Amino acid sequence: MTTTLVCLRCGARYGCLEPITRCRACRGLLEIEHTGVPTMLQTLWRSRADRPASTSGVWRYREVVLPEATGSEIVSFPEGNTPVLARSPISDWAGVPCLTLKHEGMNPTGSFKDRGMTVAATQAKRLGVRAVACASTGNTSASLAAYAAQAGLMAVVLVPAGKVALGKLAQTLAYGARIIAVRGDFDACLRLVDAASERLGLYLLNSINPFRLEGQKTIVLELLEQRGWRAPDWIVLPGGNLGNTAAFGKALVEARAHGLIDRVPRLAVIQAEGAAPFARSFRDGFTSLHPVQAETVATAIRIGNPASHERAVAAIRSTSGVVTTVTDAEIMEAKTAIDAAGVGCEPASAASVAGVRRLARESVIEEASDVVAVLTGHLLKDPEILLTGAAAPVEVEATVAGVEGALR
Ligand code: F0G
Repeated sequence: MTTTLVCLRCGARYGCLEPITRCRACRGLLEIEHTGVPTMLQTLWRSRADRPASTSGVWRYREVVLPEATGSEIVSFPEGNTPVLARSPISDWAGVPCLTLKHEGMNPTGSFKDRGMTVAATQAKRLGVRAVACASTGNTSASLAAYAAQAGLMAVVLVPAGKVALGKLAQTLAYGARIIAVRGDFDACLRLVDAASERLGLYLLNSINPFRLEGQKTIVLELLEQRGWRAPDWIVLPGGNLGNTAAFGKALVEARAHGLIDRVPRLAVIQAEGAAPFARSFRDGFTSLHPVQAETVATAIRIGNPASHERAVAAIRSTSGVVTTVTDAEIMEAKTAIDAAGVGCEPASAASVAGVRRLARESVIEEASDVVAVLTGHLLKDPEILLTGAAAPVEVEATVAGVEGALR
């Protein structure tokens, strides 16, 4: 099995131990190509018993992730093995009876980023780098900080000052990363780190790095395996920097090519109305880019100029996908339904369920469809937003009368 880096723009090819995250010739985005992938993958994965492949929901699929990584190189928590949930209050709210949720907030640092980070941190170790970096709205930084700590690498993160949810910032600090709060938005942070990382000797672990996407493909592989390799009609996910959209598209196309599924489900990417450059571009048939100054309550997807735009266009085209928007009010309404069902997620994740309802109302998703919505982050990531609502705690004197009064 061989892993090759291929430039999506000019076609240049590089060996997998080249320490690059963009094409040397044209600065285009790179994609990973695997050759010599064995057949009978379903049986191989089912029977896998060696560690850490048996415990990680990423490395279990390593033939299509990073087959060259050896046991001692792999930096794994382990991650993945996230649940698929059916909760009727949420299906009822969305108007799609056969709606299930894949909860990626149940990863070790509370978001799907861990699936990409285990692979990118492993690759960083294989390359022998000393320091890793990213720009982040919070989840990538928490995940990078955790995996860098486990790999013994120095971690540097750039975040938009004052715009990162409390839980994510606390995690990133606790795992020991150097946090640089930039007076600017996420797009400015990414521009800076993308331009400066090489000069500063930092290996970039944003989803520009194609190894991240290889790890995130396993959200789809694990979901399909959990469903006995029966493809749903739709997979719905929130879109920000569009790394996950790119990873999902690649996973589905490859799964079909490897004979793991017999048809490709449609992707639906949901953006917040105030941060919807990709949805606008979808509406004009992807003929132009629409960078925006992003604003939304869902800080994780407050992104106006997504880095993986080209890859995500390919993902939408190859899955007959759609891209739509939801308002902040719809996001918070969906979050309330998800939280009240005892599942819980952060606001950006609720965009996927809000999107299911919107697309069902518009009859894009039919009522009888088999739909999976991905919840990308944990409820506790963004606690401030909950403690200011109408259901905030009531403080009482330490007496029975006080408690009685509060219940009345
Ligand atoms: N949901 C959550 C909870 C996220 O943290 C992100 C991205 C997304 C969805 C969107 O995924 O960027 O692949 O389209 N968070 C990044 C970060 C940007 O820095 O944590 P995407």
